Amino acid sequence: MPITQLPEPELFTARTGEPALRWGLIGPGWIAGEFVSAAHRHTAQRFTAVSSRSADRSAAFAATHGIPSALDDHRALVDHPEVDVVYIATPQSEHVELGLLAIAAGKHVLIEKPIALTAAEGQQLADAGHAAGVLVMEAMWSRYLPQMSVVRQLLADGLLGDVEAVHADHGQAIPADPQHRLYRPELGGGALLDLGIYPVQFDSMVLGAPTEVVATGGMTQTGVDAYSTLALRHGGIVQSTITTTMLTRTPTRASISGSAARLDFDSFFYTPSAFRVLANDPNAPTDGPDLGYTDGTGLRLFDGLSWEATALATFVGEGRTESPLHTLDETISILATIDSAKEQLRADAAGAEDRNGLEPDGITEDGVAA
Ligand SMILES: NC(=O)c1ccc[n+]([C@@H]2O[C@H](COP(=O)([O-])OP(=O)(O)OC[C@H]3O[C@@H](n4cnc5c(N)ncnc54)[C@H](OP(=O)(O)O)[C@@H]3O)[C@@H](O)[C@H]2O)c1
Repeated sequence: MPITQLPEPELFTARTGEPALRWGLIGPGWIAGEFVSAAHRHTAQRFTAVSSRSADRSAAFAATHGIPSALDDHRALVDHPEVDVVYIATPQSEHVELGLLAIAAGKHVLIEKPIALTAAEGQQLADAGHAAGVLVMEAMWSRYLPQMSVVRQLLADGLLGDVEAVHADHGQAIPADPQHRLYRPELGGGALLDLGIYPVQFDSMVLGAPTEVVATGGMTQTGVDAYSTLALRHGGIVQSTITTTMLTRTPTRASISGSAARLDFDSFFYTPSAFRVLANDPNAPTDGPDLGYTDGTGLRLFDGLSWEATALATFVGEGRTESPLHTLDETISILATIDSAKEQLRADAAGAEDRNGLEPDGITEDGVAA
């Protein structure tokens, strides 16, 4: 059946009955600033407290964003009587410990991506959250964007036909600095956990968990994955390719190919953007788009983080302990895919060193990309 019209997006519109929660923040760095600004500008959610390892940084962030309580003690933040939900925006190495701290204090928790370094750590958070009866959610903001609701409806209605392939990519030119958190293994650095998680979760949203993961790529001299290509099998003939790198800026597009039509996302597919749907018609005179979707909400780039804030409040209002659009089981399965890929990259790198003593391609002695 040809697609003649796209479904309407389902929006997490603010002030439509969701509770106005009081939020506490741990880790007032770059993304925290974007999230707090977006939430304060576009939602009913309000930050009441912030905690940093430094009293000065906490006070400065609180002043910039109009947050009443500035702390330098994460335990005091999670115990704060005017905090309902804790947002953790530290490097990933700290996510599990701080997440467990918030859960033990009986608070809901939104943890930046990746929710944990491994699937096993993710399971710890899920188990603790379920036992405490609080909501635990990974800040995979892409899931809550209007465009992804349209994609989910197209898939649910079978309008692309049987999905045969997913291709998704995310590459950024991260400063070639061994002190950057992405280059540091002790902070959970590496391209896959930080950038590759977006295409991996996109594939998971479309096709579920892969039945087989084959990875090839290279490591930095600092010992984290620098770039990789993942071939994911989903049983039968369904295949996906995922590419990610922290060495250069790649297209950062995504596509879903079905037996009836193909959906092509613009760059950056995981932020508020646009896509086209092209029917699989061999007689079509051109490869021009048949239908297109463009985010028309006016919330550009990181203002799009506000959808996630309202989504969390909606789920809390509904008494949920996890996101129905990104369950904890799925969050953990995405980490298991990354675990498997990283394991293969590590084994390949060890084998390459054994074979010829050469450094991985493109990375110099001090861990900087050549
Ligand atoms: N959703 C998105 O689009 C998005 C985008 C970028 C990053 N992220 C995620 O958000 C998290 C933070 O990334 P970011 O780029 O915002 O990092 P960042 O700018 O370095 O900020 C992280 C903050 O965490 C605190 N921190 C706590 N323990 C730390 C430690 N051991 N080492 C360094 N800092 C520590 C620091 O604040 P104090 O020193 O003041 O305590 C720091 O300002 C990561 O998990 C990342 O994957 C998400």
